[in-house]
Amino acid sequence: MSVQIGNIDLGEFPLLLAPMEDVSDPPFRYVCKQNGADMMYTEFISSEGLIRDAAKSRQKLDIFEYERPIGIQIFGSSIETMSEATQIATKANPDLIDINYGCPVKNVACRGAGASLLQDIDKMVAMTKAVVEATHLPVTVKTRLGWDDNTKNVYTVAERLQEVGIKALTIHGRTRSQMYKGEADWNLISEVKKNPNIEIPIFGNGDIDSPEKAASWKREFAVDGMMIGRASIGNPWIFREIKYYLKTGNLLPKPTIEERVEVCKIHLQKSIAWKGPKTGIFEMRRHYANYFKGIENFKETRMKLVALEDIEEIYDVLEGIKTIHAEVMA
Ligand SMILES: Cc1cc2nc3c(=O)[nH]c(=O)nc-3n(C[C@H](O)[C@H](O)[C@H](O)COP(=O)(O)O)c2cc1C
Repeated sequence: MSVQIGNIDLGEFPLLLAPMEDVSDPPFRYVCKQNGADMMYTEFISSEGLIRDAAKSRQKLDIFEYERPIGIQIFGSSIETMSEATQIATKANPDLIDINYGCPVKNVACRGAGASLLQDIDKMVAMTKAVVEATHLPVTVKTRLGWDDNTKNVYTVAERLQEVGIKALTIHGRTRSQMYKGEADWNLISEVKKNPNIEIPIFGNGDIDSPEKAASWKREFAVDGMMIGRASIGNPWIFREIKYYLKTGNLLPKPTIEERVEVCKIHLQKSIAWKGPKTGIFEMRRHYANYFKGIENFKETRMKLVALEDIEEIYDVLEGIKTIHAEVMA
């Protein structure tokens, strides 16, 4: 059965690209979309930043037609600010607005926002209602199992947020206290999905890193779709690999070294086109090690890639990888 969020038809068992700060920007989203991501989200955007008109937050509102369906994710601690930020984000014309109730970090931006709201469900519900009322777009939520081991309240949270009008819920199978440690636990996600009162799609998130795991957890936990974060970094092929495996039961061959180079080049091109040459080249540096993970003796090549400032020279080094490191991938 096709999964629907408002009027958005996501097809059967959609795979979502997780919102990731400093990662899920338009250049990265481009390569994920090319490789089968069914829906994507922006990095989280500070509601305070948006209403202050901060350049960094505004830039994150940039979305492109080919990315659809795409959600803009916002976070904040003040209901009023979140409502205003929703109106600003709506003007950027995404397909939906997503609220972040999962951020575990205690820095200034996240204080009282993100997963903190899991400690004050009434405020979380009021904030969600305000966001739903501030936009004509579908509103979705991303959250965790609860604050800590003693307060895994996502079952109730799901019901209460559905009541105020959210159209889908993504649950990361960890508590706030776990941060990113330990294994994600999808049992409670599955219970939420099985709750007879829940009608909205429930997406599972946390630790999906292979087609086999995706297939097995799909069977075991019976969610409506999955959101994938870290395993897509330097590996946007994961979406098409999972899809192929779910459809045929067979594994696609791993991307060749040529493919890795080509996709990395596209990512770099898009990065430069969107951020300008200086920032585009600089911010791409964090991705090289991921694209070429597992390749022996890659250090020297990587050192070159992260030192060079000239685009043509970077392309030359990338092209060189095809021959220098080809044998390792065979
Ligand atoms: C680098 C990084 C940045 C992240 N930024 C966000 C964010 O902006 N918004 C959000 O809801 N979650 C964020 N997350 C959490 C992911 O969306 C996801 O819930 C988490 O990584 C678990 O999924 P995974 O095991 O597939 O990576 C971030 C995670 C990472 C690793």
